[in-house]
Amino acid sequence: MEGTDSVDLRTTYLGLQLSSPIVASAGPLTRDLAGAKALADAGVGAVVLPSLFEEEIIAEEVGLSFALEAGSEHFAEALDYFPTVSNFTSEADRYLELLEEIKKAVRVPVIASLNASSTGGWVRYAKLLEEAGADALELNVYRVPTNPELTAAQVEEVDLALVKNVCAGVSLPVAVKLSPYYSAMAGFAARVVAAGASGLVLFNRFYQPDLDLETMDVVSKVELSRTWEMRLPLRWIAILRPQLGAGLSLAATSGIHTGSDVVKVLAVGADVAMMTSAILHSGPRHVSVVESELRSWLAEHDYTSVAQLRGSVSQATSLDASAFERANYLKTLHSWTTAEHLVPGPD
Ligand SMILES: Cc1cc2nc3c(=O)[nH]c(=O)nc-3n(C[C@H](O)[C@H](O)[C@H](O)COP(=O)(O)O)c2cc1C
Repeated sequence: MEGTDSVDLRTTYLGLQLSSPIVASAGPLTRDLAGAKALADAGVGAVVLPSLFEEEIIAEEVGLSFALEAGSEHFAEALDYFPTVSNFTSEADRYLELLEEIKKAVRVPVIASLNASSTGGWVRYAKLLEEAGADALELNVYRVPTNPELTAAQVEEVDLALVKNVCAGVSLPVAVKLSPYYSAMAGFAARVVAAGASGLVLFNRFYQPDLDLETMDVVSKVELSRTWEMRLPLRWIAILRPQLGAGLSLAATSGIHTGSDVVKVLAVGADVAMMTSAILHSGPRHVSVVESELRSWLAEHDYTSVAQLRGSVSQATSLDASAFERANYLKTLHSWTTAEHLVPGPD
């Protein structure tokens, strides 16, 4: 076994050379300079800033045009009248400033993020993010299609128009962060790539509302992920990697907490493994723990580099090609034994 220091962790993501495949995904820790610096010091290969939301940009523009129409002498009054507008005002400017600051302070690539559900004039903000120095752009397409009049095909068309619009507006590489709820995931992923995406980030983690039974209020609460949630991106990256080709960048997000989790997603073909919950739970230094677990695993199993591991267990190379598909459903259900499950496991 070689020493762990000699293991080469470099990877390429969205055309960027990263020193490590462990990336800090969009979240509260990349929302300020200190957090981004701590993550870079702990060894992440790149940081993704939290998203600038379509709603924030639009609200800002509504506020601005209202103020222009009302005349500058009435601006303060207008903001009092529309408190939500005043809250949003300048969110985009703050975001651009933060991006510039972080870019100056860290040596790793900085990926800006836009969160959207429809195309529109606000899309020009993608260009502003590029001008502010972003190395790449992540477009988070986040929607819950509740309109019963809309078909899956119509919803997909709107998403594809958005992807096309953003990709056409910038010369930066764009990664699209998708939800796992498309009915024809493989076909849709291929169309997102055809629309101009250089990468896919799989998957968006939706926060499901709960009910407070005392007040009967709908409660929205962010829960950190558990490691088993990693199996959904694991499956889809294994399926999509051989279909979409080695040139496309794939990022795994959701449930990645340990070095073993990183090994698994790289093995099925991810270029990077993204973490938010684990870092929120254990702090930025957790990145160096995960990195050293990754190094140890690679050295113990005689891998000299991440490149050697990447994609070695995709659906195309797996001895049991059906393992990632439906065929294993029956086998998995039949594998349940009551005795084995009497004691609950950690997850
Ligand atoms: C508190 C919190 C804030 C987040 N903010 C964003 C965001 O602004 N944009 C985004 O694309 N994802 C956001 N995410 C999602 C994460 O980037 C990540 O995809 C998700 O948490 C799953 O990864 P994990 O299991 O490592 O947490 C957020 C997650 C958390 C927990």
